[in-house]
Amino acid sequence: MDFLKALSLLQNGDVIGLPTETVYGLAGDATNRHAIAKIYALKGRPSFNPLIIHSHSLDQLKDIVEFDETAIILAEHFWPGPVTLVLKRKENCPIDLLASAGMDTLAVRIPKHPIALELLQQFGKPLAAPSANLSNSLSPTSKAMVLKDFPDLYVLDGDQCTIGVESTIISCVDRLTLLRPGGIAREDIEILIGKLADIQGDKILASGMLKKHYAPKTPLRLNAMHKKEGELLLGFGPIEADLNLSESANLTEAAANLFSMLNQLDQMGAKSIAISPIPEHRLGVAINDRLRRAASI
Ligand code: TXA
Ligand code: MG
Repeated sequence: MDFLKALSLLQNGDVIGLPTETVYGLAGDATNRHAIAKIYALKGRPSFNPLIIHSHSLDQLKDIVEFDETAIILAEHFWPGPVTLVLKRKENCPIDLLASAGMDTLAVRIPKHPIALELLQQFGKPLAAPSANLSNSLSPTSKAMVLKDFPDLYVLDGDQCTIGVESTIISCVDRLTLLRPGGIAREDIEILIGKLADIQGDKILASGMLKKHYAPKTPLRLNAMHKKEGELLLGFGPIEADLNLSESANLTEAAANLFSMLNQLDQMGAKSIAISPIPEHRLGVAINDRLRRAASI
């Protein structure tokens, strides 16, 4: 792939659409305040909502945040891949404070998508990238979905995202806490480092935790066994449906299809979208989390 255009935009403090294995990101130079401000402005995102910093290597990240023993274990096991770690900023951290909304922690990850990795390597600096959608709309899993929210954006084409839900976010500050379920199942993390704490009270640590977040325009009806009149059915498992997340009831396949199928059904102007029950384990936890948020008013 020819990165010349993307690199020159990033060098000029502009933002681009970047494919990752989870969802497409709206990426800008993480050390450039103007680029970060542009990301917030484009997304219509409240500025207290911090961004994830993407890098191609653990060595590069070690210069910007403090890794303890557990963070190293997680990093070595899951990176590159869909896990984000929240860690303490280093004293001379070059990442602009606006990217972390003024907090003394940073959310960091190494994505697995070859185009993201190659671009990060060639750019040489970390990229701040939230999901490439307007605040409160669906996270995009294809270039076409990004262009729907941002018709004028330069977007690198990395095909359909293979994971399809955002990264799992773990805070390694204070105690190990699951901030957002996502592309790596909680079970697979706990096997490695033991039990994760759950988020306490109403503290908004990750915007994924804001109640209304992933929202199609059509109302959703969850745990539906059949579709009612005027509804479309988004199925799971071997049933007849308008679209099916996974006929073979495979949760990984369902996660990969989730946002693009919701998006397709949302375009069809139904009264509401009925959705089959999704089992509450492994990636089903992340899928149900996104669905409950999308359904809440
Ligand atoms: O898969 C993903 O994580 C995608 C791709 C593009 O990498 N990115 C993504 O970014 O989902 P975004 O901005 O939509 O969600 C980032 C989440 C937000 O909920 C934000 O509040 C949280 O990360 N976050 C960022 N920095 C944080 C910090 N220092 N402490 C706690 N949460 C943080
Ligand atoms: Mg998002």
